[in-house]
Amino acid sequence: MSGGNISSEKVDLLIYGPSKPIVDNGFSDQFVLHKFETTADLERLTPAVAEKIRGAAVTYNSVRGDGKTLGRFPKLEIVAAFGVGYDHVDANYARDHNIVVTHTPDVLTDDVADIALTLLLSAVRQSPAAERFLRAGKWLEQAFPLSSSLRERSVGIVGLGRIGKAIARRLEGFAVPVSYCGRTRQTDVNLTYYASLPEMAAAVDTLILAAPGGAGTRHLVNADVLEALGPRGIVVNVGRGSVIDEKALVAALSAGRIAAVGLDVYEHEPEVPAELIASDSAVLLPHVGSASHHTRDAMARLVVDNLVSWFAGKGPLTPTPETPFAVSRFPHS
Ligand code: NAP
Ligand code: 8YV
Repeated sequence: MSGGNISSEKVDLLIYGPSKPIVDNGFSDQFVLHKFETTADLERLTPAVAEKIRGAAVTYNSVRGDGKTLGRFPKLEIVAAFGVGYDHVDANYARDHNIVVTHTPDVLTDDVADIALTLLLSAVRQSPAAERFLRAGKWLEQAFPLSSSLRERSVGIVGLGRIGKAIARRLEGFAVPVSYCGRTRQTDVNLTYYASLPEMAAAVDTLILAAPGGAGTRHLVNADVLEALGPRGIVVNVGRGSVIDEKALVAALSAGRIAAVGLDVYEHEPEVPAELIASDSAVLLPHVGSASHHTRDAMARLVVDNLVSWFAGKGPLTPTPETPFAVSRFPHS
């Protein structure tokens, strides 16, 4: 793999999405930055500037690099997405138009796995509800009801990739039996593998989702999977909201067909169904898996480093699987 051309000419970059100091200050004066924070802002982009743009940083998944957006930049060579999940950038369009898409794997794995464990323990032990109980002064009147326990649970991980494996490693310390489900059997783990999610759901009582979004995983967790999981069932999701049929999840939780949920991601972020907000059995976080200073800074640096590496002719550092381009495929170099 290689990269764009090394040249003394300035490189025009689109910085699209919420401002990030590490991105704003990360480029030498070889680069000219054109910043647009929102989708509405981008409407002000003139064709003359669009014509010059050769690289783009998409700094949050609140803005989208869909085909229509990428198509506005005829000389675009590389899009650096902020996030390991890049369902907000159309990598297939990019591949078909010789545009490299990079993402930010690994640097966020541990923080996201920590949040998965936070959600799991909170949902099992109902600790947020217990805290609300205390703050409301109810402890003065009675004890908080007993909760479920991790001691009597069996976990199935959906998507045993970088984050899924980090979750499994943490669960080893809790001595909980762990299975996993994915398209391929992993050779570097000693965990029970299921090719079928309904089968795994029937065999465990706790699902942790760490799978990517997009068409391939949409509504993997549906009413049938929730039914198979059963009334003791707990569902934790740190992957993408679209992996769960959210209406089916709300219906199952409301009817007691599953016991509790712990969610960091939702189908229509930042909208969260009112039924979940009202439920004491739902532990809800606002998509904060990677949201520590440490990790978000590392992600922002990786966005910058990918663009700098590419325009130094050294290739992308962390390309997405769809666009592992060699320079020979690249028309502008
Ligand atoms: P990864 O290493 O690529 O792992 C993804 C795993 O999902 C792979 O093991 C893959 O296994 C599995 N998978 C893909 N399609 C599947 C399907 N149809 N059914 C079942 N499993 C499937 O990615 P990662 O670094 O672990 O990140 C995973 C996801 O976490 C990201 O894509 C992102 O959506 C999410 N994420 C969320 C946060 C947050 O803040 N909550 C932060 C970072 C990441 P197979 O190929 O074997 O199927
Ligand atoms: C980010 C994420 O918060 O990396 C991911 O896939 O979901 C999170 O780390 C999100 O992508 C912001 O762009």
